Amino acid sequence: MIPTRLRLGVNIDHVATIRNARGGDHPDPVRAAQIVAACGGDGITAHLREDRRHIRDEDLARIQAATDLPLNLEMAATEEMLAIALRHKPHAACIVPERREERTTEGGLDAAGQHNRLAPIVARLHDAGIRVSLFIAPEERQIEAAMRLGAPVVELHTGEYAHAEGQDVARELRRLADMAALAAKNGIEPHAGHGLTYDNVQPVAAIPQLAELNIGHYLIGEAIFTGLEPAVLKMRALMDAAR
Ligand code: PXP
Repeated sequence: MIPTRLRLGVNIDHVATIRNARGGDHPDPVRAAQIVAACGGDGITAHLREDRRHIRDEDLARIQAATDLPLNLEMAATEEMLAIALRHKPHAACIVPERREERTTEGGLDAAGQHNRLAPIVARLHDAGIRVSLFIAPEERQIEAAMRLGAPVVELHTGEYAHAEGQDVARELRRLADMAALAAKNGIEPHAGHGLTYDNVQPVAAIPQLAELNIGHYLIGEAIFTGLEPAVLKMRALMDAAR
């Protein structure tokens, strides 16, 4: 099934990054979630990292209570994060690879190489009614692994596309388009995200099978200059124009 409207999930982690720089409670990611809800965002994404460098445990319930938008919790495949997800029951849990020393989520989850470790976590999230998404590189073997794991959603990592230059851009875009089509053909809903900006979002948004984009760092950065609402509205307009 080809979705007509592409959803925009806004990752509000970096509002918390700025808050944490001073150790207080301003700016509050909850206020960002409320603004996203008020201006037509389709979801809130937040990554509770092992080191709690941005979103903290107590933020999750506050974010969930603040709006009716679905929460997409990005989480590492650990027992600690599983317990937190089962306690908070977000709408969706996006399983991401996580290394303490990385600046951001640098690569996709190796769903193919880690089947046995991921299978019980995917199953327990699924049994709790949480929609599981796997954040994977746009590679056939990772889509096949997601199928074996029974994941209803994959989020295709757009970082390689976002960082590509010259002829590599078209090649990376082709990979995203092909893997979105492969996922959809096999009953998996494809999402995409990472490193998307006003300048590079449209070719991705034009991939017809994609149902959702998750965008954070750039939007929060733009919000410093224009405010969060205009930033979200501009991203929304670019996505709509690309469809
Ligand atoms: N999707 C996933 C799974 C992510 O880990 C991230 C980064 O936290 C994003 C989307 C958003 O990426 P960016 O902040 O570069 O827009």
